[in-house]
Amino acid sequence: MRIIVGVSGGVAAYKACDLVSRLVQRNHEVRVLMTPNAADFVGPLSFRALTGQTVGIMTDDEPDGPLSHIRLAHWAQALVVAPATASLLARWAAGQASDLLSLVYLAFGGPVLVAPAMEPDMWAHPRTQANIETLKGDGVKVIGPDRGRLASGRVGLGRMVGPEELVDAVEHANVPPDLSGVTLVVTAGATFEYFDPVRLMTNPSTGFMGVTIANLACWRGARVILVEGPSVKAAKVHPDVERRPVESAQDMLSAVQDVMSGADAFIGAAAVSDFRPAHRLTHKAKKDSLDLQWQVEENPDIIRWVKAHYGNTKWVVGFAAETENPVENAQKKCQDKGLDAIVANLVGTDQGFGYHSHQAWLLWDDQVEPLFDGAEGSDGSEGKVHTADRLLNWLADRIQEASGWSH
Ligand code: C5P
Repeated sequence: MRIIVGVSGGVAAYKACDLVSRLVQRNHEVRVLMTPNAADFVGPLSFRALTGQTVGIMTDDEPDGPLSHIRLAHWAQALVVAPATASLLARWAAGQASDLLSLVYLAFGGPVLVAPAMEPDMWAHPRTQANIETLKGDGVKVIGPDRGRLASGRVGLGRMVGPEELVDAVEHANVPPDLSGVTLVVTAGATFEYFDPVRLMTNPSTGFMGVTIANLACWRGARVILVEGPSVKAAKVHPDVERRPVESAQDMLSAVQDVMSGADAFIGAAAVSDFRPAHRLTHKAKKDSLDLQWQVEENPDIIRWVKAHYGNTKWVVGFAAETENPVENAQKKCQDKGLDAIVANLVGTDQGFGYHSHQAWLLWDDQVEPLFDGAEGSDGSEGKVHTADRLLNWLADRIQEASGWSH
């Protein structure tokens, strides 16, 4: 992407170097514009070195020749300001342009993101809040601030969000909000079924597939409720995704039962354990009880429950992890469970569970669409992202077709 990073004059300006460096490393073209105050905190030379491009500051600077503000505004696909001070937000809310960055803001028609950073009292000030509302009303995306320790030593709301979150937000700035108004419930990860306090049955699913769907759906404007097994805990989840951590299949079913009535669609990406120990010991079993016979019993099938209770009014999509004949096996599963669609997923020793790369097909009605072939030479790490994207396209199309929810 072609990105303008704006830097205004706060102590968090040093973090903008990290943001710019990350964007450049991810192969984006980056131009930096600073306010005069920002240049007191961090030298323009740092950004010039990171981007290999001239930095613009004053209204009469011409880093791109005459009419640089217009050229830059036409060039950029996104504008992100980090940090955004109270003063910059006030100037922008008033439409004032006393530096090159603000001129570009007024001339730019694409997505604008601001990452405020200031003392908690300044953030809470009614004038700042009014300015934020004005900017939001103009379509500016406000990222953060976070709660945490500030330069003054105080702890409160006003810390700039981390560069990783900003990179994510910028990269998704142009994603169309085609799922806005839709509430989606996604299950993800493996469930834990304990024999005793320290031993359990589970599987190698990391939850990456389900988390990727949840994150992308969120960027596309959906309200997303992620019912996640314990393996998902450390995953990078969009801050607006509503996370419902659960442990066992029974917990997962209860959580899904709690949230389904308000949902429009359900995507079951969790690798739910089919069985659980019939008895869970309250103490750790001794090693000398090796002759112990562990009885197992069947877990509830969550997606069947969803289908049985909401199948006529909500979209229900499943995943089928198969080690052989993925398409035929998934087709059977889709029919048997009465799902609207299913993603057939080839799992083996080096793909599928626990891996980014996978081979997948999307099946619905009598259609079979190959999603990702996981072939050598292809970008394996993007496979599940592509699958999530395609699946959400399918869902957005169905929802649009069936406006009125009468599918
Ligand atoms: O039957 P199988 O486990 O292969 O079906 C896979 C689909 O069913 C997935 O969407 C999975 O999340 C869902 N499932 C479920 N509850 C279970 C087992 C599977 O929701 N107990």
